[in-house]
Amino acid sequence: MSSIQNTLGPVTSVIGAQWGDEGKGKIVDILASEYDVIARACGGANAGHTIVVEGEKHVFHLMPSGCLHAGKDIVLGSGLVIHLPTLLKEIATLEEHGISIIDRLHISKAAHIVFDYHKEVDGVLEDQREEPIGTTKRGIGPAYMDKAARTGVRMERLGEDLSSVITNRVDPIKKNYGVDVDAATEIQNLKDAHAKIGSCICDTVEFLAKARSAGKTILVEGAQAVLLDIDHGTYPFVTSSSTTLAGALQGLGLPPMAVTSCIGVAKAYCTRVGEGDFATEAEGDAEERLRERGGEYGSTTGRPRRTGWLNIDQLNETQALNGFTGWNVTKLDVLDEEEVIPVMINSKLEELPGWKSSTAGLTSFEELPENAQKYIKRIEEETGVPATFIGTGPGREEMITKT
Ligand code: GDP
Ligand code: IMO
Ligand code: MG
Repeated sequence: MSSIQNTLGPVTSVIGAQWGDEGKGKIVDILASEYDVIARACGGANAGHTIVVEGEKHVFHLMPSGCLHAGKDIVLGSGLVIHLPTLLKEIATLEEHGISIIDRLHISKAAHIVFDYHKEVDGVLEDQREEPIGTTKRGIGPAYMDKAARTGVRMERLGEDLSSVITNRVDPIKKNYGVDVDAATEIQNLKDAHAKIGSCICDTVEFLAKARSAGKTILVEGAQAVLLDIDHGTYPFVTSSSTTLAGALQGLGLPPMAVTSCIGVAKAYCTRVGEGDFATEAEGDAEERLRERGGEYGSTTGRPRRTGWLNIDQLNETQALNGFTGWNVTKLDVLDEEEVIPVMINSKLEELPGWKSSTAGLTSFEELPENAQKYIKRIEEETGVPATFIGTGPGREEMITKT
């Protein structure tokens, strides 16, 4: 067992602790080499998880970020809503890179299908809202609406002739939302998907249970983030799934007692894409400076992300919900040029001193400038959670590990 696994144990989970885009993909990619099974639990192609390997950038929307590691079992769990053409495109891109996936991909028969019309309906609902949420328009809300209404179509039906199911939806969707359903394309998408991934659809709860019995290790890749959780987030400016550790375990059907660690991923500052309250949002030059230094443009939609400062009070709220065993504080390097760094602690915006020197690419805590060390230690003290991982750049190697 490696030292990382000694610390994290056989079932670990990576959960976003802010409003998404904290850098979950990168830590999952790093840890994936140590785990046998990598699983996505909830959400859909609203996620955009970026990893940078040897200077090449890869963005995944549905596939877990660990999928670049050959031979790992990949699970798409029951809590997911899956847009089939997007999944097929990701598989095709992997195959173009010489990475075969079909023989190690396990898709839950209980995951729901996102149709193209769900995306259209997403747009219509946004237009109708007095206060739009700023959704990713990936059809997530409407697909979960169907799931909750028990009118959704699950992956287990992919092999059936679903023509009448689709054609029966054309009229009601036109009537309710003014959306034209392209039934022929939807039906063709189902056929194409069945031909490519039909063999991957299975009982993933059983698969994971058997994997655990056989002593295999499991890495759970959370999507979205705690402040976007449908129950515990900043409602109504949230997504439609449960984004906490508990939600991930539910989405996968993993027994809660199985989990041995949970890494909360938080940027050293904060961003939000979409609408809603953002108490520590930066003003003036700082907003743009953080965006440019951090490359803060949405991985899914390309939208400029709103930027601001770390809110430790919110980290404490997310800690109360998830019981993180360690933080991955990401993108510390983005703060390298700041004179002072505002941080929300106990409802007050304190200014901590910056370090005005480069942390880019550093891999040991001792090498960090003194004020950067103090910054991390303050997060640890205020939250009572150790910063096990500290990100100093987008690349796979640019990470400090304190185990
Ligand atoms: P995710 O949705 O949580 O996986 O995060 P995204 O991939 O949407 O956004 C995180 C962005 O930050 C990506 O462009 C990553 O390549 C980048 N990134 C991750 N960690 C670091 C870091 O420590 N430093 C810097 N500069 N960039 C990072
Ligand atoms: P990852 O996994 C950042 C946000 C959207 C919008 C709200 C609802 O990359 O961190 P939705 O399309 O889900 O109905 O949109 O949630 N949102 C995200 N923001 N990162 C994400 O995923 C997000 N997934 C959804 O911007 O505000
Ligand atoms: Mg993202």
